[in-house]
Amino acid sequence: MSYFFYENVMDHYKNPRNKGKPDSYDTEYGDSNPTCGDNVKIYIKIEANRIKKIGFEGNGCALSMASASLMTEMVDGESLDNALKISEKDLMNELGIKELGPNRIKCVALPVKVLKMAIISYISKQNS
Ligand code: FES
Repeated sequence: MSYFFYENVMDHYKNPRNKGKPDSYDTEYGDSNPTCGDNVKIYIKIEANRIKKIGFEGNGCALSMASASLMTEMVDGESLDNALKISEKDLMNELGIKELGPNRIKCVALPVKVLKMAIISYISKQNS
């Protein structure tokens, strides 16, 4: 584990950005990793197809919580289309992680999955 990786993960884990449920939001989605039970829930306020406000709640390992925190910073203010393009690799790059084994990639994948499901759920409601 590189020092940069450790520092970045611990910074987001100890001082999570956008943690908590916003006063109002247009879509939400929560899920957990079945193997460990760690969970993340995302709340998004949307205006003109752009993320106006995003918050998250969750309990889990340092990597899953740090990934959720970093991800909310990365997509805040972005269009829904751009937010849907975010990948585990993007989060790993920002955290300074070159590669992760299958047991740890799920920690980064959880917040990405939850974000995408919250947006897809919003879009499908708009189109119904
Ligand atoms: Fe469960 Fe990381 S160990 S999400």
